Amino acid sequence: MDTLPEYPFKRDARCPFDPSPQVNELRHERPVAKVKLWDGNEVWLFTRMDDVRAMLGDDRFSADSHHPNYPTWSAAVKQQKTTNASFLRKDKPVHTAERRLWQAFFTPANIAALRPAIQAIVDGAIDDMIAAGSPVDICRTLAPAVPAAVISKLLAVPEKDLDFVKAVGVTRTGIGEKPEAVHKALVDLHDYWIKRIDERLQNPGDDLISKLIIAEVKTGRVAREELAAMANLVLLAGFGTTADMIASGILILLRNPESLQQIKADPLTTPAVIDEMLRYTSIVQHGLARVALQDVEIGGVTVRAGEGVVAHLASANRDEAMYVEPDHFDTQRESRFHVAFGSGSHVCIGAPLARAELQIVFDTVFRRLPDLRLAVPFDAVKYRLDHTFFSVSELMVEW
Ligand code: HEM
Repeated sequence: MDTLPEYPFKRDARCPFDPSPQVNELRHERPVAKVKLWDGNEVWLFTRMDDVRAMLGDDRFSADSHHPNYPTWSAAVKQQKTTNASFLRKDKPVHTAERRLWQAFFTPANIAALRPAIQAIVDGAIDDMIAAGSPVDICRTLAPAVPAAVISKLLAVPEKDLDFVKAVGVTRTGIGEKPEAVHKALVDLHDYWIKRIDERLQNPGDDLISKLIIAEVKTGRVAREELAAMANLVLLAGFGTTADMIASGILILLRNPESLQQIKADPLTTPAVIDEMLRYTSIVQHGLARVALQDVEIGGVTVRAGEGVVAHLASANRDEAMYVEPDHFDTQRESRFHVAFGSGSHVCIGAPLARAELQIVFDTVFRRLPDLRLAVPFDAVKYRLDHTFFSVSELMVEW
C-alpha cells in the first residue's frame, strides 16, 4: 500500500509566511522522511538544519538535474531544470571552474563599490512611485524595478529588453506552467544572449559580460553558448528572487512596527533585520534538490545511490534546535546562520548583492516615505504560492 505523503506540501493560507504544517510535523517526528513527487519519484526530504547543511555540503550528492531521479515539483519545473541549467546544476570540476569566472565580481568589495549606483537606482524607482501617486502596488513598481535595473546594469541588458526578461523569469518559475512554454521562454532568452554576446564581441563595453567575452570567449576558453547559459542563470537568479524578497520584506516591516522603528532609528541594524527576514521567509519554498551518487549514511538513514533528496530550507530555518520560538519574527536573535541562500558549494553567489539591494531599498523607502502603510487590510494582501519562489503577489501601499 502506498502511504508516502505527496510533495510539495501546501502552505496554510492563513499563515502564508510559515512552512506547511506537514513539514513541521515531519521535522518533529521523522526529520529525514520519504515523500512522493508528481511523477512517482520517491525521494528523501531533509527538514532539520543539521541534516540540511550536512547534505548540501556533501559532494556525494549531485546537483545535476539531468539525472532521471532528480527531484522536481511538476512537469514545468522538470523542463526548467533541464533547459540551459548552467553551473547551478553542474558538479565539480565544471561547476567550480564556471562559478569561479563570476565569483570575482560578487565579492563584498565589488558590491560595496556598486552601492552608489544601487542608491541612485533605488532613488529613481521611489521617484517613479511618488510620481505615480498613492496608492501603488509595490509588486509592480519598486520591488521588480530595483533588481531589474541593477542586474541589467551589471550585465548590460538595455532597459527596453527588461519586460521580456521579466516575463521569462515569471514563466520559468511557475510550477503549473506548460512545459513547452517554459522551454520556449528559456530558449528565447538563450538566443537573446547569443545576439548580445555577438554584439559585445564586436563592440565591448565596461560591463561584466564584455569582461568575460574578452577574457574567456575571445581566448577560446569558454564557448559563447556556455557564456549565454551562464548569463541566463545570473540574470534570472538575480532578478526574481530579490524582487520577491523586497515585497515580502516591506510587508514584514509594515506588520512589525517595532522592527521598522528599529531600522529607522539605527540603520546600522538593517543588515541583521534582513537576515531575520531571509530566515523567516525562506523564499526558495520547496527547497533544493540533489541526487545521491553513492550510498550515503546521513541523518539516521541510508540514502541509496541514485535516490533523490530534497533539503527543505524553510523548515531548517524554523528548526527549534537552532532557534528559540522559530515561528516568531524576532530581530534581536542571531539569524545569520540561516540557509535561505543555500549552503555548500552552490551557496548563492549573489548574496552580497542581494543584501546590499535590500538594505538600500528598506532604508531609503522608509526614510523618504515615513508614513508608508498598507492601503488594504492585511488579510487582503495577495500571495503567490504556486511558484518555486514564495512571494507576495500584490502589495497595495499608500503614504
Ligand atoms: C534574496 C535573494 C536571493 C535568494 C533568496 C537566493 C537564493 C539562492 C539559493 C538558495 C541558491 C542555491 C541553489 C542550489 O544550491 O541549488 C542560489 C544560488 C545562486 N544564486 Fe541566488 N539568491 C538570491 C539572489 C541572487 C542574486 C542577486 C544573484 C546574482 C545577481 C544570484 C545568483 C545566484 C547564482 C548564480 C546561483 C548559483 C550558484 C552555484 O550554483 O554555484 N542570487 N541562490
